[in-house]
Amino acid sequence: MKKHRVVVIGVGYIGLVHIRELRKLPNVELVGVVDKNQDLAKSVAEQYGVTHYPDSESVLGDPTVDVIHNCTPNREHFPLNKAALLAGKEVLTEKPLALSSKESGELLRLAKERKTRCAVNFCYRYYPVVQEARARIAKGELGVIYNVLGHYLQDWLLYDTDYSWRLEPDLAGSSNILADLGSHWCDLAEFITGLKITEVFADYRTTLPVRRKPQDGEVLTFSKTETTNFKEMSISLEDYGSLLLRFENGARGTFVTSELAAGRKCDIEIEVYGSKSSLAWRHERPSELWLGHRDKANELFFESPLLQDEKTRRYARLPSGHPMGYHDAIYNLFADYYSYLESKNDQSFTEYNFPDFEAGHRGMLILEAALASKEKGTWVSVRS
Ligand SMILES: NC(=O)c1ccc[n+]([C@@H]2O[C@H](COP(=O)([O-])OP(=O)(O)OC[C@H]3O[C@@H](n4cnc5c(N)ncnc54)[C@H](O)[C@@H]3O)[C@@H](O)[C@H]2O)c1
Repeated sequence: MKKHRVVVIGVGYIGLVHIRELRKLPNVELVGVVDKNQDLAKSVAEQYGVTHYPDSESVLGDPTVDVIHNCTPNREHFPLNKAALLAGKEVLTEKPLALSSKESGELLRLAKERKTRCAVNFCYRYYPVVQEARARIAKGELGVIYNVLGHYLQDWLLYDTDYSWRLEPDLAGSSNILADLGSHWCDLAEFITGLKITEVFADYRTTLPVRRKPQDGEVLTFSKTETTNFKEMSISLEDYGSLLLRFENGARGTFVTSELAAGRKCDIEIEVYGSKSSLAWRHERPSELWLGHRDKANELFFESPLLQDEKTRRYARLPSGHPMGYHDAIYNLFADYYSYLESKNDQSFTEYNFPDFEAGHRGMLILEAALASKEKGTWVSVRS
């Protein structure tokens, strides 16, 4: 079996998650890591017994590397993904795909020209019962979709001493939370329902317009600092957002997101209401799919390699009753992506529904419509 030789670029919070899951895949060999923080990269390379590349240029110039995983902050996504595609590498990138739809469109075009599909880590698609939700809706179990409602709440930026590069436009782009958490939720909404979001009406706010940035080195995501050495920073990017949504079939939706929701760590909820029945999924109870009925008792469906729809069983990798989690969802996404790379070589044309650059580009188009809507105070169509 050919092993895909992979380098992870950016080994902060999510880069380490990528490394752990990549090492479980039989058709992948993690060969190296890169990080702007050389000490961090060296120690991660040592820990995993892989090469420490000094920079991404040296990775792209290494003909033995097949695939890069781009786990850097948002600003680096476009230039690095583009350089990797031009260097003939395959790419799995973190979201958002780029800082604008112009950039994401260019990446999509480049991937198409190369006749390849690159992946974006919209990992919440890959919980077994999320796949099950999509399969049930595709089979018509819910009937006509009327409403899609939900939220994505966290609390890690609640205090003015909480800080992240995500609050700096230079690194994050023109949005914090709608790009970060909103992109995941909108991808889930389109993936589960199979319906495109066509119009958006947005409101958002920078609730804490001044924060204190720790001065003793960078703060990695979700990490805590004990420092008392802060610098006051004006913050322009939003820490709260809400969207009214219209879908292509006329369905209506609402979405709320906040990073100031004390007690909510990674609380994603999505509810889909149809003409026959409804379903709901919540990340804090990720193995369960709630099925709602009008004329009989509601049901709780648990992920299961035996009971799920035939197409989604392979994502439930443990016997029924043994819950899977975030790492497993990411493993499922990576497994599909690397199977796709294999199928591309042997021409087996298996269908894989991993989030690709098309999905990443959709995310950027929806985000831009939301930003324009807030600016104008009107509904804005999502460009196609
Ligand atoms: N899919 C998910 O569930 C998920 C979860 C978290 C983060 N993310 C995405 O992953 C990306 C990284 O986020 P994070 O939370 O891991 O951030 P982080 O700050 O914890 O880590 C980023 C790392 O990238 C390094 N870096 C910065 N610029 C670099 C460059 N030019 N070359 C090499 N390394 C560089 C930093 O030194 C740091 O170690 C973001 O775009 C974020 O949106 C996705």
